[in-house]
Amino acid sequence: MIAFPSFPDRLETPGGQIGRPVNRVDGRLKVTGAARYAAEHTAPDLAHGYIVSSAIAKGRITRIDTSAALALPGVLAVFTHENRPDLAWFDRKWKDEDSPKGSPFRPLYDATISHSFQPVALVVAESFELARYAARLVKVDYAAEPHQTDLAAVHRDAFAPSKDKGGFQPPPRPRGDADRALVEAEVTVDCHYSQPAEYHNPMEMHASTVLYNDDGTLTIHDKIQGASNSQTYVCNVFNLPKSAVRVCSPFVGGAFGSGLRPQHQLFMAVLAATQLKRSVRVELSRPQMFSFGHRPRSLQRVALGAHRDGRLRTLIHEAVQETSQFENYVEIVVNWSGQQYKADTTRLDYRLARLDVYTPLDQRAPGAATGVNAIEMAMDELAYALEMDPIALRLKNHTDIDPNTGRPFSSKELRACFAQGAERFGWSRRNPVPRSMRQGRDLVGWGVAAGVWDAMQGQAEARAVLGLDGSLMVASATADIGTGTYTVMSQIAADVLGLPLEQVRFRLGDSALPTAPIEGGSWTVSSVGSAVKAVCDKVRDRLARAALTLEGRPFGTATADDLLFTDGCIQSRIDPAQRLPLTEVMREAGLFAIEETARSLPYLLQRARHTLGTHSAIFAEVRVDADLGTVRVSRIVSAVAAGRIINPKTAGSQILGAAVWGIGMALEEEALTDHRLGRVMNHDLAEYHVPVNPDVGTIDVIFVDEEDRVVNPLGAKGVGEIGIVGVAAAIGNAIFHATGVRVRELPFTVDKILAAGGP
Ligand code: MOS
Repeated sequence: MIAFPSFPDRLETPGGQIGRPVNRVDGRLKVTGAARYAAEHTAPDLAHGYIVSSAIAKGRITRIDTSAALALPGVLAVFTHENRPDLAWFDRKWKDEDSPKGSPFRPLYDATISHSFQPVALVVAESFELARYAARLVKVDYAAEPHQTDLAAVHRDAFAPSKDKGGFQPPPRPRGDADRALVEAEVTVDCHYSQPAEYHNPMEMHASTVLYNDDGTLTIHDKIQGASNSQTYVCNVFNLPKSAVRVCSPFVGGAFGSGLRPQHQLFMAVLAATQLKRSVRVELSRPQMFSFGHRPRSLQRVALGAHRDGRLRTLIHEAVQETSQFENYVEIVVNWSGQQYKADTTRLDYRLARLDVYTPLDQRAPGAATGVNAIEMAMDELAYALEMDPIALRLKNHTDIDPNTGRPFSSKELRACFAQGAERFGWSRRNPVPRSMRQGRDLVGWGVAAGVWDAMQGQAEARAVLGLDGSLMVASATADIGTGTYTVMSQIAADVLGLPLEQVRFRLGDSALPTAPIEGGSWTVSSVGSAVKAVCDKVRDRLARAALTLEGRPFGTATADDLLFTDGCIQSRIDPAQRLPLTEVMREAGLFAIEETARSLPYLLQRARHTLGTHSAIFAEVRVDADLGTVRVSRIVSAVAAGRIINPKTAGSQILGAAVWGIGMALEEEALTDHRLGRVMNHDLAEYHVPVNPDVGTIDVIFVDEEDRVVNPLGAKGVGEIGIVGVAAAIGNAIFHATGVRVRELPFTVDKILAAGGP
């Protein structure tokens, strides 16, 4: 169940489309199966590839015997490091749009094994089943070397990564002497938290179908969060011109960051297609979805010292995360704590430790979903130490100036999130004493946490074509990973031109379209939405000029500012009776079509003077079985301030889905590595647990009114990620309230609750 608020119009919305909770414009295609995903495209001569992956975590391949596989009729080729062609990337350094610092993994480069499940061969056959069977016949001998996959064993060797152009900001310098203040503070907490590695596990597994065209060019259907990123990757690696490679990904069955970087199945499929000169598909199996990036495991310490009245005297947050041997994957984990709360002294520290694993990868709210959990659990612990309401403690330390930078927030309606969330949740009825609220056999716990995420924006381009029939086509090479991009972009375009939504079509997911950044970071509405608004503004200006210069001057002395675009018509504000359909204006002006392109840039100067972010307050109710210690999340209220909400329904679904994921983080998700083998053992959905319907109670989403004129011309901040931040902390805090025991290691499974002395 989800409650969608009505959203007030604050900025001008002449067409009335912005803020409407309209259904997904691509919904019908999806539910009828008409939307085709990467592995659903085909060709008459399509060959199928299956990947063989490494059984060891570190060492070398000493021998690879493909003869048994090749002997099967219908097996076309087996590609390994021994027979792969020389490729452009072997001679130069290159990056994809989401590459961390370092040297990207190159499949089939040589005999070196750097991580378990590393792809070591690709078997290509006439059918998928044959390729899969033949893959088992490829015999690989290894010389294993000692590996290390346990962060707990090496965290003392961690190093501080430096700033990089990927946007990573090292923690700010310490303010004051936070460690001394901790010793001197009247009330303190000092806690260690641990989060496991988590895998994205989107419904759609990663796949690439490479269609080999007659002229030798490639049309690639790839699972990716930005078609241009895959195109650039393929062109760089295979030394192909952009004109020879088109990448399409109009539908993506979830990604959550797993599709920000091209994954190895794309390399494998293109390799096979270019070598065999025929179309090839490579799709990963569900277990193989554990063969690449993941949310990294983390170990954190949060130490807080407070004055008696709750004001923070010291805030110390230290985190160490895993990365691979070949890239420095970095997240912003601890900076959020210094940004969210004003303390007299602050020390933030972030480090990386190298393990023999594949490079971790952005996963929904990377960094914040880790660091904010720790600070928000620690704030709850401090509230109990102070005997203070946890919301009151947070409000006491609220700040409208970012303490990390000294800059004001462009907007930060966090207090309204607490107020409206508490009201909806019924927080005032909470008895703060742990174990004090019972219902039948259940111990009931209520917990709260705050969330924060960035409001980023990148450069983006869009094209618009308005036809004489009144249809508007708008396009940009962005993605819709299930977030609602098709729908909200259509709304923005319809709004600017005052058109009915049905007359607007938005195209995306094609590298041939105008450039857009990868869909991630919650920046797509901000980046691409601004480009869509800009290009439609240009179309509107053309129409206005045409209308004002029509023969007979139907709009009299009106100027462009006096014209209103509404219901498919241009209307004079001065005299509303002066009104003409857009199509008639075009016809009379002799315009068969109006085509425009536009590029939007962030308001760099304004942005540099502010900190821009989204904020949230999450309330969770848990029921803990008093005998068994099992936990159910019966209610979540998530109150979010994210500027203007273009579509409360699709945005609400983002928050709803993210809250579900937060339940998974809190109670279920965990990649279990057998460190003797250096290998994740629960690499399927039977053993890697994610929430299903019975695990999820009521989720109630509130969008708090927030006006922001710094963020972009739309005033919209983006909601893809804020919804997961802090949810696990709210649930952990609720478990403490229910049981009186504190578990600091995610997930909060029953064994840990019992070991801590609960329920
Ligand atoms: Mo998101 S982790 O930026 O796809």
